[in-house]
Amino acid sequence: MPSSSTGQNRHSHSSAPRALVTGGAGFIGSHLVDSLLADGYHVTVVDDYSTGRRENLESLGNRDRLTLIEGSVGDADLVRSLVSQPDEVYHLAAAVGVALIARQPIATIERNIYPTELLLAELAREWSEGHSVKLFLASTSEVYGKNPKPVWNEEDDLVFGPTTRPRWSYGASKAIDEFLTLAYWRERRLPIVIARFFNVVGPRQTGAYGMVLPRFVGAAVRGEPLLVHDDGKQQRCFAHVRDVVRAVRQLMQTDSATGRVFNIGSDRPVTIGELAQMVCRIAGSRSSIEYCSYAQAYDDDFEDVRRRVPDLTRLKQTIDYQPDYDLESIIEELVERMKNEK
Ligand SMILES: NC(=O)c1ccc[n+]([C@@H]2O[C@H](COP(=O)([O-])OP(=O)(O)OC[C@H]3O[C@@H](n4cnc5c(N)ncnc54)[C@H](O)[C@@H]3O)[C@@H](O)[C@H]2O)c1
Repeated sequence: MPSSSTGQNRHSHSSAPRALVTGGAGFIGSHLVDSLLADGYHVTVVDDYSTGRRENLESLGNRDRLTLIEGSVGDADLVRSLVSQPDEVYHLAAAVGVALIARQPIATIERNIYPTELLLAELAREWSEGHSVKLFLASTSEVYGKNPKPVWNEEDDLVFGPTTRPRWSYGASKAIDEFLTLAYWRERRLPIVIARFFNVVGPRQTGAYGMVLPRFVGAAVRGEPLLVHDDGKQQRCFAHVRDVVRAVRQLMQTDSATGRVFNIGSDRPVTIGELAQMVCRIAGSRSSIEYCSYAQAYDDDFEDVRRRVPDLTRLKQTIDYQPDYDLESIIEELVERMKNEK
């Protein structure tokens, strides 16, 4: 078994580090790929383009060090062939977004559990054969479920609703991923880092799967109504994807982060109603703000989380986490981009 999580990879043919990014053609994955390439990595992306897009990777620099593989992390032969090279593996491939989950509960559960299981087993085999490799697992604030505490820290209870409401399957499936990943660390000493992302936003995020900010900005720019679900008093915190990616990269480079779970995001809450107003103001839009019930937006048994705010103490004790972007600057950037794309 390797003695260090950061030692020389026995499979490396050059001194440049190698990373494998699952879901690398997705929103967060493509920004992570960008950051790794900029730092001199050779990067392999595996993506089945279920929600990811080829164009997310087309404009990146340093593409000579990028290998794109179209395929699924649920394909055992493919996963086995991919894990022999990298020094670092970033597992972001998943079914994401409450709208997708409401529409396709089977795919959500299957996509979020089996591929993680497969990847961990293959990495543990590599590790036991002397290949020094470290895994990052992208988890989610959804694992806290509807915990009533105003601010959530990593040791708080997971509080899910009943299994008859498919919405909880996303958080529960990601919680299984976390249990499994932590088990591989405890039992096999496979080096891992887990981060629970809170709402991540920025360029390349699509509103097609229910993500609120791109939906609002798109509507405001087009002069269409902004549709707020329920009473608009739900509270969320929005972090720029580049700040989140920087935190992920720092955690992977910090030995004391190994084997642990971290919240990553912004800790500045805003209500969804306020968010709609901010978007209209910043976009200079005369769009109306309209309200609809969860039953109209999703289905009759949809249940939401009223407040979702991370405690960032552990993150800030472990790395130097100072976000570069506040919510206003995030909205300004998105408005500018969407106006140019019109
Ligand atoms: N965006 C957020 O606010 C947020 C919040 C919490 C957690 N996360 C987590 O971050 C990760 C990335 O999310 P995102 O927002 O970039 O979503 P995304 O949908 O843009 O990215 C997911 C990517 O995974 C790919 N994919 C899905 N299943 C696959 C499979 N079996 N094999 C290969 N590729 C597959 C998709 O095509 C897509 O490119 C996910 O694990 C998600 O759970 C995101």
